[in-house]
Amino acid sequence: MASNKRLLILPGDGIGPEVMYEVRRVIDWMERRRAVTFELDEDLVGGAAIEATGKPIQPATVEKAKAADAVLFGSVGGPQWDRLGFELRPELAILTLRRELGLFANLRPAVVLDPLVDASTLKPEVIRGLDLMIVRESTGGLYFGEPRGIETLPDGRKRGVNTEVYTTDEIERVGRVAFELARKRQNRVCSVEKANVMESGLLWRQTMTALREREFADVELSHMYADNCAMQLVRNPRQFDVIVTSNLFGDLLSDLASMLTGSLGMLPSATIGAPEPGGKRHALYEPIHGSAPDIAGRGIANPLAQILSFAMLLRYSFGMDEEAGLIERAIVTVLGSGLRTADIMAPHSAKVGTQVMGEAVVRELDKLAP
Ligand code: NAD
Ligand code: IPM
Ligand code: MN
Repeated sequence: MASNKRLLILPGDGIGPEVMYEVRRVIDWMERRRAVTFELDEDLVGGAAIEATGKPIQPATVEKAKAADAVLFGSVGGPQWDRLGFELRPELAILTLRRELGLFANLRPAVVLDPLVDASTLKPEVIRGLDLMIVRESTGGLYFGEPRGIETLPDGRKRGVNTEVYTTDEIERVGRVAFELARKRQNRVCSVEKANVMESGLLWRQTMTALREREFADVELSHMYADNCAMQLVRNPRQFDVIVTSNLFGDLLSDLASMLTGSLGMLPSATIGAPEPGGKRHALYEPIHGSAPDIAGRGIANPLAQILSFAMLLRYSFGMDEEAGLIERAIVTVLGSGLRTADIMAPHSAKVGTQVMGEAVVRELDKLAP
């Protein structure tokens, strides 16, 4: 019988393969101890695919992603490919997957784990207990808007153009994801744009207001300008429950939010599409961090964002809440025992590398569910 857990693994570049290796340990553990079987496939994306095939992603890889029940993505990019044109850059791999699989809602939870309260650059009393969800639109806006390009003007100057564009249906479908998530949380959505200077932002605000009145009158909706939101996230992040925002603002605000939790190396994400007629929903899981060229190859990257992305995958794509919870609990216990990678290092903790952190999580899983 064909497995209903077909998983495509795309490690990518830099620390991507390093942190993905630690997820493999967790997958092995699941297969050994939880009697689940995944049908695993792996492929090249990003710079690794450019070196092997000349392109950041092959059409066959996109097809594999479409056929899979879930995709686990590492990270792509690196300075050696920075001079390539946009149609050849490693980053095109993730953008292509989001677009081709229709993955319009990027869920980026920022949760402060108790043992890491001291790892943030913010004061413990500001961030303790933080549990916030950023819903970032991920197939539209400035990332995909037309016209775009760099043109040479008659006088020889150059002109670079990108376009922020949103239609009501694009705003509504990501808005629905945010409202539905809020219903299972604290029932509050904050919609973030710059309606004071951008037409697309004004439409965003009007559309969110109308959507709430029509379909989600039970959920509290507030609006905030994106610049103020950046400030409020640092001033008092616990005021937020669910934030919903555009592609670009969501990219910025989620990196910012990661530092509330201690490190970019801690934040997972899920990017989901619309349910298809058969009930299947495309989904891709990835840490929000990149390939971290500055530390790649040294075995010191934090693998927890990648492992937590796998936990999100188990929960959202396979309904394996129990296993996802086990992974999250194992991570809290390991951090509580004082093991830290360099990015979350604190006084009186033991500094460990990527591999030791991954092994510690698996050892803890063994204790939690022998
Ligand atoms: P980055 O997220 O790779 O790194 C930013 C900083 O955070 C670096 O100092 C890095 O060492 C640190 N960091 C990131 N992840 C870490 C981890 N797991 N453990 C410890 N420290 C970690 O962002 P960047 O340097 O701006 O970008 C590097 C490359 O990655 C670029 O080519 C960029 O386009 C790409 N990128 C890819 C993705 C993706 O594939 N989804 C996401 C972001 C950036
Ligand atoms: C992210 C990354 C990507 C983005 C890049 C690599 C295209 O920064 O996933 O946050 O900007 O969406
Ligand atoms: Mn980003």
